[in-house]
Amino acid sequence: MALREILKKDEELLRKKSRPVEKFDDRLITLLEDMKDTLHEARGCGLAAPQIGILRRIVVIEVPEDETDENSKDLYFEIINPMYLKKEGEQKEYEGCLSCPGEFGITTRPEYVKIEAYDRFGKKFTLEGRGLLARAICHELDHLDGVLFIDHAEMVETEE
Ligand code: CO
Repeated sequence: MALREILKKDEELLRKKSRPVEKFDDRLITLLEDMKDTLHEARGCGLAAPQIGILRRIVVIEVPEDETDENSKDLYFEIINPMYLKKEGEQKEYEGCLSCPGEFGITTRPEYVKIEAYDRFGKKFTLEGRGLLARAICHELDHLDGVLFIDHAEMVETEE
């Protein structure tokens, strides 16, 4: 298990566009395992490779299957070179980011998204998400293009 440092919002690297993964090799698998460990340690819903200083189009997401049930089991996804196929509806919900600790805001996101991506072995798959999973997908995919949620959220004042 290896934890990586999560870059904070002022790092210039977080504003760069990430490049697609070209080699599905052992280094990629090590990176994915490190991202999973780092996400668990930070207790986040998602982590994108640029957040640990790697400008590649890689995202890991872990969200409860049912966000209204606190005993719900978690679903875990590894998403490489993602592309949107569909976005539908609208939701306005609270959001935060591991790169912006202590900051929260309300963002407008699609209620439903469908993406196409590759798994760790280079196999293509599609993933559909609603609610929290849709928000997490949009939030993490934004990171791959240098976009942070604070760029477009209605920020909420939090107590010190
Ligand atoms: Co984030």
